[in-house]
Amino acid sequence: KGCKLVGCGSAVPHLRISNDDLAKIVDTSDEWISARTGIRNRRILTGDESLTGLATEAARKALEMAEVEPDDVDLIFLCTSTPDDLFGGAPQIQKALGCKGNPLAFDITAACSGFVLGLVSASCYIRGGGYKNVLVIGADSLSRYVDWTDRGTCILFGDAAGAVLVQACDSEEDGVFGFDLHSDGDGNRHLNAGIKQKETNHELGTNGSALGFPPNRSSFSCIKMNGTEVFRFAVSIVPQTIEASLAKAGLNRSDIDWLLLHQANQRIIDGVATRLEVPKDRVISNLANYGNTSAASIPLALDEAVRSGKVKQGQTIAAAGFGAGLTWGSAILRW
Ligand code: ACO
Repeated sequence: KGCKLVGCGSAVPHLRISNDDLAKIVDTSDEWISARTGIRNRRILTGDESLTGLATEAARKALEMAEVEPDDVDLIFLCTSTPDDLFGGAPQIQKALGCKGNPLAFDITAACSGFVLGLVSASCYIRGGGYKNVLVIGADSLSRYVDWTDRGTCILFGDAAGAVLVQACDSEEDGVFGFDLHSDGDGNRHLNAGIKQKETNHELGTNGSALGFPPNRSSFSCIKMNGTEVFRFAVSIVPQTIEASLAKAGLNRSDIDWLLLHQANQRIIDGVATRLEVPKDRVISNLANYGNTSAASIPLALDEAVRSGKVKQGQTIAAAGFGAGLTWGSAILRW
């Protein structure tokens, strides 16, 4: 048994924020942001939108392209670090899609690597668990955790959702073949949004002391990042993980039709392409319009590339995610 990628879709919030807009709130400029990152605009989730809504829209489009009914979906992965509910967002998408078969739906949390982990998990559940139609959704709203006074991070992120339907098939031609996944908790110090400690639980008032311990009321701090360290990490490990996936798939660099990296920074994408000797016209990038959309960036870019006719059936895509955790990984895909 193998699996194939049979549909994709994406959705972005309505509000577009340009580099010039950001220059009104922090000491930066369009020139600096464009030159250092390649980003020009990003979309930001507003009060009347939700991550669940975006993710559901992306998933619906993927199902429509695949001509698969919601009732025939038997597994949903929501790859996100910013769900609408602390307990996970995937079941709400199952509800919004109206999947009558009560498919299993749960979240995968691995920041910007989440979607690659989701795709690989989908292929494993299909091969080992007999699942037939697996929706893999990458959706994030990092704007919820951005410090809008920190020019080193607030210029980078945008919100979005993207989805792919992975389907079981009998053919030898596999949609996800060869993967390589890693994490390094030590690198967390370079990129994190940790829990805030020792917040007072005001509702308890003075009664709190009767419990004999100070109960915690928790929330997460804003994203903190050592950009230079993350940049170095990405440029060195992404070529390595892609080489490892290629080797497992029995392929060479020259077999790559498209290089599809997590859209974090154009300089990272260019650096990796140069190291792998992939020509510029074989590199997918839509970072200029959306910024770093975390787990959504790969399916969002894939969806645009498929719908514009750039990526054609049967082509080989080397996809790689990297980011907080630290986590990173790659998979060789066939569209
Ligand atoms: N506008 C103007 N100046 C700025 C800005 C800004 N927005 N941000 C930083 N600067 C200044 C700095 O203060 C510094 O000034 P100084 O020399 O006077 O101290 C100077 O520009 C250079 O700063 P650096 O941080 O060294 O700039 P760098 O070239 O490294 O670019 C960037 C910063 C864009 C963040 C880059 O390091 C990067 O992209 N890193 C990778 C981020 C990433 O890929 N994250 C992915 C994972 S995200 C996730 O998983 C959630």
